[in-house]
Amino acid sequence: MNNSLIIALDFPDKKKVEEFLPSFGNEKLFLKVGMELFYAEGPSIVTYLKEQGHDVFLDLKLHDIPNTVKGGMRNLARLGADLVNVHAAGGREMMEAALEGLEAGVGVGEKRPFCIAVTQLTSTSETQMSRDQLITVSLEESVCHYASVAQQAGLDGVVCSAHEAKMISERVGEGFLKVTPGIRLAGGGAGDQKRVATPKFARGEGASAIVVGRPITQAENPLESYLALKNEWEGVLL
Ligand code: C5P
Repeated sequence: MNNSLIIALDFPDKKKVEEFLPSFGNEKLFLKVGMELFYAEGPSIVTYLKEQGHDVFLDLKLHDIPNTVKGGMRNLARLGADLVNVHAAGGREMMEAALEGLEAGVGVGEKRPFCIAVTQLTSTSETQMSRDQLITVSLEESVCHYASVAQQAGLDGVVCSAHEAKMISERVGEGFLKVTPGIRLAGGGAGDQKRVATPKFARGEGASAIVVGRPITQAENPLESYLALKNEWEGVLL
C-alpha cells in the first residue's frame, strides 16, 4: 500500500480497460476503479482486475446512513478489493459502521481491505467550500478535522491533496495513510483539479501513495508517462 502509484481507470467501460492495460505488459499495477467504470460493469470488473494480478482501489466514496454503509461495505469486502473509501463528511458513526461492514464481509482470518476517508475533494477550493458547504474555517483546518475524525473512527487514512499531507501527519501521526490525487508532472494541465502537485512534491510532503488518472490514461504513450511519474515518485534519478 505504502509508496504505491495508483492509476485511476476513469474509463466508461471494460472494453476501454482491455485496450489500455496491454501496454503495461506484465507490470503488476495498483488500479483505481471509480464510479464510472463500476456503475457500467459492476462487481465483475474488480474480479477481472484481481484475476490479472493487480491491486484494486475501489473508489466509490460511500456516504449514507451508517446502516446502509455497513451493508454496502460488507458486500464490497467480498469482492477482494485492497482499498475502499468513504466520505468523512458522513461522520464518525458512519465510518465505524463502514469498518464493521468490511470486517463482516471478509472471511474468518482474512485481512479486511484498507479503508480511507475523503476529506475535501481535490477539486474543491476554499471559496467553494465556504459558499456551498457553509464551512467557514480554512480548507486546511477542515481537512485536518476530517482526518482526525477518520482516525478516531479507526480508519487507516485519508484521501487528501499532497499540499495537506504534511499537516495531516503532524495532526494525526505519520502512520496514517495519505493517498493523494491531483498529481501532475511539472507543466501538465490541471483539468478540473484545483490543488495539483508533482510526484516529487507529494513524496517530499510525506504522501503514502499517489493517484494518477488523465496524465496516464489520456497520454499518447501511457507506459512512458507511467514510468516518468513513477520514477519521479520513487525518487529515481535518470
Ligand atoms: O485525472 P486525474 O489524475 O485528475 O484523476 C484523479 C482521480 O482521483 C479521479 O479518479 C478522481 O475521481 C480521484 N479523486 C480525486 N480527488 C479526491 C478523491 C479522488 O481527484 N479527493
